[in-house]
Amino acid sequence: MEKLTAASTLAELWRHPVGHDVLDKLLLQMGRGEGWVTNPLVSRLTIGRACRLGRGLVGEGFADTLLALVNAAPPPVTGAPGVRRAPFKEDVFYQIYPRSFRDADGDGVGDLAGILEKLPYLQELGITALWLSPIYASPMDDNGYDISDYRAVNPEFGTMEDLERLLAEVHRRGMKLIMDLVVNHTSDEHPWFREACRDRQSPYHDYYIWRDGGPDAPPNNWTSFFSGPAWNYYPEVGQWALHLFSKKQMDLNWDNPALRAEVAQIVRWWLDKGVDGFRMDVINYISKASLADGSEAVGKLMGFTGIEHYFYGPRLHEYLHELRENAFAPYGAVMVGETPGVGLEMAKQLTAEERETLDMVFNFDQLETPGHVRFDDYDYDLAYLKKYYLKWMAGMPDNCRMSIFWDNHDNPRMLGKIERGQEYRAVLAKLLAVLQLTLKGTPFLYQGQELGMTNIPFPSAAELRDVESLNLCRALEKEAGPKAAFEKVLAGTRDHARTPMQWENAPGAGFTSGTPWIWLSDDWQAGWNAADEAADPDSVLNAYKALLALRRAHPVFAYGAFAQQYASRRDLFCYTRTGEGERYAVLLNLMPGAAPRPRLPAGAACAYNSYGGPAKELRPYEAEIWRLEGPER
Ligand code: NOJ
Repeated sequence: MEKLTAASTLAELWRHPVGHDVLDKLLLQMGRGEGWVTNPLVSRLTIGRACRLGRGLVGEGFADTLLALVNAAPPPVTGAPGVRRAPFKEDVFYQIYPRSFRDADGDGVGDLAGILEKLPYLQELGITALWLSPIYASPMDDNGYDISDYRAVNPEFGTMEDLERLLAEVHRRGMKLIMDLVVNHTSDEHPWFREACRDRQSPYHDYYIWRDGGPDAPPNNWTSFFSGPAWNYYPEVGQWALHLFSKKQMDLNWDNPALRAEVAQIVRWWLDKGVDGFRMDVINYISKASLADGSEAVGKLMGFTGIEHYFYGPRLHEYLHELRENAFAPYGAVMVGETPGVGLEMAKQLTAEERETLDMVFNFDQLETPGHVRFDDYDYDLAYLKKYYLKWMAGMPDNCRMSIFWDNHDNPRMLGKIERGQEYRAVLAKLLAVLQLTLKGTPFLYQGQELGMTNIPFPSAAELRDVESLNLCRALEKEAGPKAAFEKVLAGTRDHARTPMQWENAPGAGFTSGTPWIWLSDDWQAGWNAADEAADPDSVLNAYKALLALRRAHPVFAYGAFAQQYASRRDLFCYTRTGEGERYAVLLNLMPGAAPRPRLPAGAACAYNSYGGPAKELRPYEAEIWRLEGPER
């Protein structure tokens, strides 16, 4: 691919795969359409001139950063005909956030024994693979995403024997288990970091990212994801160390081959134990292009200053490929990258089979509608979800793979973002289930999603637990006062998804016999719990069971081609999945009102209906799957 220069036009940048993703992301954050870039007045501008004109906005040096970013990218991915079969494409993953899943010992915090106890539930649900959020030794500043020993289990969760028992039982039941690999950073209590602070000459010093300088001003203007500057000063070595996340999560220096070798060893150590792969935390941040100042304008738009220097760094592909070769490939283990900020073309470059980097990525742009960030209080419009997936379904070739998800431990639940009331809660939860389980990609469910768990307003800031929310609340309180600060944080707090699993209508919701570590509302008393739902044929839980069974029985959902149908119907999202000798149509009514039913080919048989059976019209948020006969129309 030809290198772009300052003399290249914005039209050329838009045509460049990675340039396209970058512009697309900026437009998305601004809530603007692509016409802003593609109109002839703008698209004829050179990159150099556009950045000069916008210097006041984007700052000095932005053109260079942008050009370095796009020019370092690997060549564009070309599609390869035919889907290669692979177990991770057929699996349905289920994310467990151990603190909040099931507490077997009554201390109020979920544990490994609790997960073991619930394996029959997960198997009956139809889950084939589990992803455990971190259970390693950690001071728990970020609930385990700050690791102090990669080879030890945090006593809060149990022992290594508990983990081995869990793994054996998962495998005995024919399921898989992947762990969380958090190696963009370690805890500041990790022995490597302690040693690095103690002695500048120690080999561990270069495991982290340091800059010289006096204590008064950090080396650049980067901000951390959890408020404040991305640097801590350490007087013992007279240097600043980088932390993109909390003050206790210190960024590792992947440019150091010794560190990369350590990471490979950690991965192999766990794979030797029998785990089936890893979900890799913010793995696209590991290659920092430079430590130059970030653009203030981009920082404002994205919420974090400096991100353009590391979200798609120049050695990212090299490091991932190396790790795959040295650790994952010999075991056939699965590599799922958490890759915030990565767009469609970058996702292709990261997952194309022939590139041998990641198997799948998590991209996050489906989670907020254009112009919104997580902490905005707004109603999510399903029309955007449709637009987003139409683009990705058309854009991801068969040699690349995406994950499909709505909920995780870092976001309020999608269900509650679309509808804050309760009127359509169950039927909307079923619509999301149908969509997630019939799009082309590998579904990742998050605990409680199968019950229709939703966002329940926390009563006060005192009930919040998450480091991100607490830091943000503190920062906002200074500007806006406690009430406004809490309201803002409430809209986007990650704690929404971290409330305890609602197992039964019993004190502690069957999560714990003690006092839960985080707020538990009374939602479980109104039937929103696993036991009551198991007994109710119309429940969200039973909808998931039926849909998972359907997906398992028909590989067309894992591998089949996707084609939109009835494209003129803006109120509906309709598509077919075709392949493996079968064809299914999916009809989704995206509206909270009735909609005329599109005509299906003769011989269509209803395989799933979210209201219990089809009616003349499509009812509010109704979701259906039909088995079709004959050739594609
Ligand atoms: C992404 C994780 O999902 C999130 O929970 C964590 O806070 C950050 N990475 C930092 O590890």
